[in-house]
Amino acid sequence: MRLGIIGYGNIGSLISNNLEAVGFLEDNVLNLSNRSFSKIESLDSRINKFESNVDLAKSSDVIFISVKSPDLIEVIEEIAPFIEDETYLVHSSAGISFKDIANVYDGQVSCVIPSISSWPSENNQKSGISIFYHDENVSMENRRNIEGLFSKFSKVITADNYDDLEALTVATSCMPAFIAFATALFAKELERNSNLSYEDIYGYLNETNYSTANLLNQDIFGSDELINKVATKNGITQKGLDYLYNELPLIYNNLIKKLM
Ligand SMILES: NC(=O)c1ccc[n+]([C@@H]2O[C@H](COP(=O)([O-])OP(=O)(O)OC[C@H]3O[C@@H](n4cnc5c(N)ncnc54)[C@H](OP(=O)(O)O)[C@@H]3O)[C@@H](O)[C@H]2O)c1
Repeated sequence: MRLGIIGYGNIGSLISNNLEAVGFLEDNVLNLSNRSFSKIESLDSRINKFESNVDLAKSSDVIFISVKSPDLIEVIEEIAPFIEDETYLVHSSAGISFKDIANVYDGQVSCVIPSISSWPSENNQKSGISIFYHDENVSMENRRNIEGLFSKFSKVITADNYDDLEALTVATSCMPAFIAFATALFAKELERNSNLSYEDIYGYLNETNYSTANLLNQDIFGSDELINKVATKNGITQKGLDYLYNELPLIYNNLIKKLM
């Protein structure tokens, strides 16, 4: 496969680093371009770096575009006159519809929403979830190939419609930021109320999040079962839960309204 990535920011670098980690560079071509060329020029010499998106597009069969959402259409407009009819575009901008893209490019287009939780790490090469949403004209072969590629470093799921894509984006792509924010805030409050350092508490919370997520993810306990194992009647966990039962539903309700 000759895969081109336009935009080497959070997502472009996530995909490129993962492809490198799973051995993609051994029998495939990886092309990269970025607005600021300095960001990519010293990367692995096996990666072809392009100063021009058009030159990258001419040398790629699959083009993955990971620029900020407001810039997506402009980039597609820039490369569209120079690409073959069968070139397959994949982008990571959930807010842009296939209809908007069809105004400037009438070939095959898919959207994939990766998650920063798929960042490669030493102990877990495959992590996080990538959500695919394919336009109806995308061939089965293209779907299989791109999903197969992403499944080497993440769990792949597909959305059947745009509403599901939005909900899944919140659950898998926004959620890492919410978890990081909640953990850091929690650590700060505990630091203020104890003699412990922020760093220590933050580390303990991350270990607890990780091990609890493992129990839930492996279905060793369901959520109610786990809650019952921790919360004893009149104990402090139960007091905390009573408070959260009152406060959190409205916060989550308002949060989801802001996101979708
Ligand atoms: N971040 C996430 O966790 C996440 C998850 C799922 C989906 N997404 C979506 O993925 C897209 C990219 O997000 P991101 O967080 O990766 O953004 P980002 O970190 O800002 O990266 C965007 C990259 O695109 C480059 N760029 C901008 N215009 C360009 C152009 N005309 N030609 C070539 N390169 C160009 C920028 O170059 P410079 O170095 O010059 O700035 C930058 O490196 C967005 O639509 C976002 O909503 C993000």
